[in-house]
Amino acid sequence: MTSTTAASPVLEIHDLRVDFRLAATTVHAVRGVSFSVAPGETLAVVGESGSGKSATALSALRLNPEPPCVYAGGHILLDGKDLLTRGERELGRIRGADLSMIFQDPMTSLDPLQRIGSQVAEVLRHHGGHSRAEARAAALSALDEVGIPDPERRYRQYPHELSGGLRQRVMIAAALVARPRVLIADEPTTALDVTVQRQILDLLVRLQQRHGMAVVLITHDLGVVAETADRVVVMHRGEAVETGDVHDVFARPEDPYTRRLLDATPRLETAG
Ligand SMILES: Nc1ncnc2c1ncn2[C@@H]1O[C@H](COP(=O)(O)OP(=O)(O)OP(=O)(O)O)[C@@H](O)[C@H]1O
Ligand SMILES: [Mg+2]
Repeated sequence: MTSTTAASPVLEIHDLRVDFRLAATTVHAVRGVSFSVAPGETLAVVGESGSGKSATALSALRLNPEPPCVYAGGHILLDGKDLLTRGERELGRIRGADLSMIFQDPMTSLDPLQRIGSQVAEVLRHHGGHSRAEARAAALSALDEVGIPDPERRYRQYPHELSGGLRQRVMIAAALVARPRVLIADEPTTALDVTVQRQILDLLVRLQQRHGMAVVLITHDLGVVAETADRVVVMHRGEAVETGDVHDVFARPEDPYTRRLLDATPRLETAG
């Protein structure tokens, strides 16, 4: 977490429009969303279920299933270059290396049949330039960095041998081992116990500070936003209804939907 940063944005989303063309109807999941995030900055995206948070996040790596997804408009610029116009091969080079994602459920993102260490090492192998031994060493140090005890032993284990919290740490290690400049975390702690959630969020904040990443954090939890984010985007029905500095938006919400959202979270007021 930093105060408002003057650095220029690394990821910019301009007027993004995402449709899902289904048999009977078209869902306009994202209807003209714009925001940007700079190195060292945490941008939170909040809003009720179905408001288009994940569809927006997945667009940054073109990970919405096509079909039914159609990118109906807008631009997603990574260092000024539009990701929506890249081919699959170039996106494959960008995913995990320049821009990484962490999802809610590590069980669906980890391969159950592969040892966790190789899954982390594979990210580096995929992007080339690392021998097997180098990738293994980097994966071990990534497991260590995310707080996995006894990484040598854990390296050889399979996902089902780990607790949910440890699995999420493995996902974070895999997301960060190639040192991406942007990390998008979509509800990264929702599946975890409250105490473990806390630890994982603290870990993300520490890693972000150490590596100066830009972080986009999608969450339902406004308490988490207040504690970890610099700026916040409030989404409602596919639109970004309010964007601003977290403290300003929480202290003086301008949009009626933001006000409703804050009113529904009394804990925040007592937390000050
Ligand atoms: N693969 C898909 N196929 C069809 N419709 C989809 C698909 N993915 C998302 N949608 C629709 O797009 C809209 C936005 O969904 P999205 O997953 O982005 O919401 P969200 O804000 O992430 O919600 P949640 O908080 O529940 O994760 C919803 O109406 C959803 O049903
Ligand atoms: Mg979602």
